[in-house]
Amino acid sequence: MATNTQTSSPSIEVVILAAGKGTRMRSKLPKVLHPLAGKPLLQHVLDTASELNPKGLHVVVGHQAERVQETIGSSVNWAEQLEQLGTGHAVQQAMPGVDDDSVVLVLYGDVPMVSLNTLERCVASAAAGHLGLVTADFDDPAQLGRIIRNGAGAIQEIVEFKDANPEQVAIKEINSGIMALNGGVLTRLLSQVKTDNAQGEYYLTDVIALAVANNIEVQGLKAERPEEVTGVNDRLQLAELERVYQMDRAKELMQVGVTLADPSRIDVRGSVEAGQDCFIDANVIFVGDVVLGSGVQIASGCVITDSVLGDNVQVHANTLVEGAQVAAECSLGPFARIRPGSDLATGVKIGNFVELKKSKLGAGSKASHLTYIGDATIGADCNIGAGTVTCNYDGINKHQTQIGDRVFVGTNSTLVAPVEINQDAFVAAGSTITSNVPDETLAVGRGKQRNIPGWVRPDRRKTKS
Ligand code: UD1
Ligand code: CA
Repeated sequence: MATNTQTSSPSIEVVILAAGKGTRMRSKLPKVLHPLAGKPLLQHVLDTASELNPKGLHVVVGHQAERVQETIGSSVNWAEQLEQLGTGHAVQQAMPGVDDDSVVLVLYGDVPMVSLNTLERCVASAAAGHLGLVTADFDDPAQLGRIIRNGAGAIQEIVEFKDANPEQVAIKEINSGIMALNGGVLTRLLSQVKTDNAQGEYYLTDVIALAVANNIEVQGLKAERPEEVTGVNDRLQLAELERVYQMDRAKELMQVGVTLADPSRIDVRGSVEAGQDCFIDANVIFVGDVVLGSGVQIASGCVITDSVLGDNVQVHANTLVEGAQVAAECSLGPFARIRPGSDLATGVKIGNFVELKKSKLGAGSKASHLTYIGDATIGADCNIGAGTVTCNYDGINKHQTQIGDRVFVGTNSTLVAPVEINQDAFVAAGSTITSNVPDETLAVGRGKQRNIPGWVRPDRRKTKS
């Protein structure tokens, strides 16, 4: 009897292997927690895999399992591999939590740069009833598993380097380890894997020959480039991948119209969205989510973290900006520190050795030199003189400073919060302001100068030899 069958793609279960020790990192930190572009290697894999909308994300942990679990959090299913008996054994630990009708995609916590496109091709192959296997051609295949094809070009098996004969060692096509297969079939084939090999381990790679023996076609899927399947085993490889990752980010920025003084000297540890005609000088670091308008200029040595910079903002050398909203045409630095909660309206100027924290400055206001502004709300077109300090902290609590429009604060003033200085007021240089200043008022809060005529300078003391 004919049934009305609907074809829908099977659900996806992702299994990520992360139980290994990572001995060659020579580190107390588990290998998969070492950061690439500021984010743990394993998190990169999880983020890419999440884009497949999998039914389950399973991570196999062993070495320092607790530390890995604490860092990554509860968004995944953990499977523990108590003894590292091989990659086949590792996958087996996750299989009880996996739906047999799904496609299982095997990934590695130390292979961070795999692309979504490659994963999609691999999953599609398994959804069509094949075993999808991601391979790559390496000039120097080193100790990686070799792909063995027959005369017709069909993949027959994977031979591990340690088990390979010289002819097989010469093969340049390698196993990335990334594969996808129906869950039920994978469970069945894994149960047939033995340990009769050079390392005495349960090799996941033996599943390939077993699939062929069971008339399952193994589809080799070439990685888009070798880097996406390159694993991290030591700090040199980590540094090399970091550079590849950063060059990708640099290219993306240049493609949207950003000029980079040197594409090899920019670091993006998060995301940067940028308008056209920005200029970024050498050695600038972006952290978290950064948005740049058009025409933004950032000089050397700046670190911009989780901030929005409007059109034509200029950030001069060695300036730190974090958690700030900076409107168009502002100028920051050199050597300024803009801390979280800073909100600058159009055309604000923050000069050298100025620190801002949780403060709002209105359009056109200036603090050009050597100033600390914390927990303050400052109106438009104010001038905050050199050496001005908001005394916002009494040792226990933080207090607010309110400054109206067009206020002039003279050099070396201390504004003891809570305090209000109302619009068009003028604070004389060197004042300590402890009470509110009304509109259009001059406030002088300093000791009177005394001049003492005829005063005699002390002589220099005679020093003993
Ligand atoms: C494996 C492949 C090899 C492939 C290479 C790609 C096997 C037998 N070989 O070799 O064909 O070219 O990856 O990098 O699969 N792991 C566990 N539990 C274990 C063993 C390993 O979780 O018991 C994890 C490791 O943490 C690591 C990954 O699996 O993330 C790969 O293990 P590794 O020992 O590095 O395999 P290779 O010998 O490199
Ligand atoms: Ca490896």
